[in-house]
Parts: sequence; structure tokens; C-alpha cells
Amino acid sequence: MADDSSLNGALADRFTEAFQQNTWQDGESVSGPGSTLRYTSELRATLPAMIRALGCASMLDAPCGDFNWMKAVDLAGIAYTGADIVPEMVKGLQETHPQHSFVCLDLTKDPLPTADFVMIRDVLFHLSNADVVRVLQNFVQSGSAWLATSHSFDVTEMVDVVSGPTTFRPVNLTTAPFHFAQPDHVLKDYAPGFLPRWMGIWPRAAIAARFGL
Ligand SMILES: C[S@@+](CC[C@H](N)C(=O)[O-])C[C@H]1O[C@@H](n2cnc3c(N)ncnc32)[C@H](O)[C@@H]1O
Repeated sequence: MADDSSLNGALADRFTEAFQQNTWQDGESVSGPGSTLRYTSELRATLPAMIRALGCASMLDAPCGDFNWMKAVDLAGIAYTGADIVPEMVKGLQETHPQHSFVCLDLTKDPLPTADFVMIRDVLFHLSNADVVRVLQNFVQSGSAWLATSHSFDVTEMVDVVSGPTTFRPVNLTTAPFHFAQPDHVLKDYAPGFLPRWMGIWPRAAIAARFGL
């Protein structure tokens, strides 16, 4: 994998620009078409039950994006923290949703708050393979219990890309070059008319073992 860490100083700037310019061009959510209420209808119905079934009482949603669909999720009894790399979006969310906690951080390099359930949805597909490794190792270092992240079963290799908002390639962590075991659980995460994909859910130990951590 290429060492692209020197590019990451600008990562926050590039995603902030995407936020300011609505780069993903969705009329409902500045986080893009995968973050609308329609797109997330099935996930919103199943996610809270899965979190509770795993015995999780706290959740880190990183990145939280504009919180468009998560604001409609039943979070009763779940201590929610949202995190994103775009400072002004995080600041706005903290003001409009004071019952939750929002923090600004870069998943590739900043320490993550510990939570029972960490959701890393719709961001690894924007990141280089080296950055994907940084994010996953960061999750392991946080000591959090479960990782849920976007997962496409039919992808046979994760080709490398340059990190940024206009990059997109689907993610399958069970294939090259990552070769994770199959997820312990999956939740359907797409709407009719879109490509099938899922939230794959792994215990921390499975991610740690893959990196020898
Ligand atoms: C496509 S949106 C998805 C947001 C959210 N997960 C959702 O489901 O609506 C991608 C988000 O990732 C954020 N992001 C990109 N790189 C990041 C990083 N290294 N650390 C934290 N957030 C990042 C962007 O600012 C953007 O809000």
C-alpha cells in the first residue's frame, strides 16, 4: 500500500469543501444520496435492535455526516456520540442536538472515544487502502467492542485510491488486500433501485487479530 499520510493534512479541507459545496449533490442530505431517509429506511428499522441485542449501551457514529438519517433512529437508552472531520458541521450539530455529543476528529489519526458500538458508515469507500488500515487500527486502539462498517459482498478486490470526497470504490474487507473473516452479523443497507450492500459487524477481537494487535 502506498504511504499517503502526507496528503492527510488536507483531508479535512477537502471534506469541508465538499460540505460547503454540497459535492454529493443531494437535495435532502449534504452527506449524499446514501444518507436520505428513503435510502436508510431498512437500516433505521434494524440498527437499534441490533445495537441492543449486542448488549451495547453506547455508540460512536463516525463519521456522522449531517446526522440526517440518524436523527430519525430510536436511540432510547443508547448514549450517542457523533464525530466528523468537518468542524463547522460538527459545531452546528452540537448546537441543534444538545442531547447528544458531537466531536470533530480525523478517523485516520485522532484517538477515538471508546464506545460499545462503533459505526463507520460510508467513509472507507472514500479512503485509500493505507487510510483504511489507519482507521481500523484506530478503532482497535480505542478499545471499543463492535465495529459496524459498510460492506459489499460482491466486491472481489479493494483497488487502491487517493483519499478524498470525489473518490468512490465499494468496500469488502474480506477480500484483498484486507482478508478479514466474514462479519458476525449483517444488516441490509440499501434502497430499491440501488446496488445491494450491507453493514458488516465484527467484534473488536477479529479486527485486532488481523493486525496482530
Ligand atoms: C458520505 S458521508 C457519510 C456520513 C454518515 N456516515 C452517513 O451515513 O450519513 C462521509 C462523511 O465522512 C466524513 N469524513 C471523511 N473523512 C473523514 C475522516 N478521516 N475522519 C472523520 N470523518 C471523515 C465527511 O466529512 C463526511 O461527512
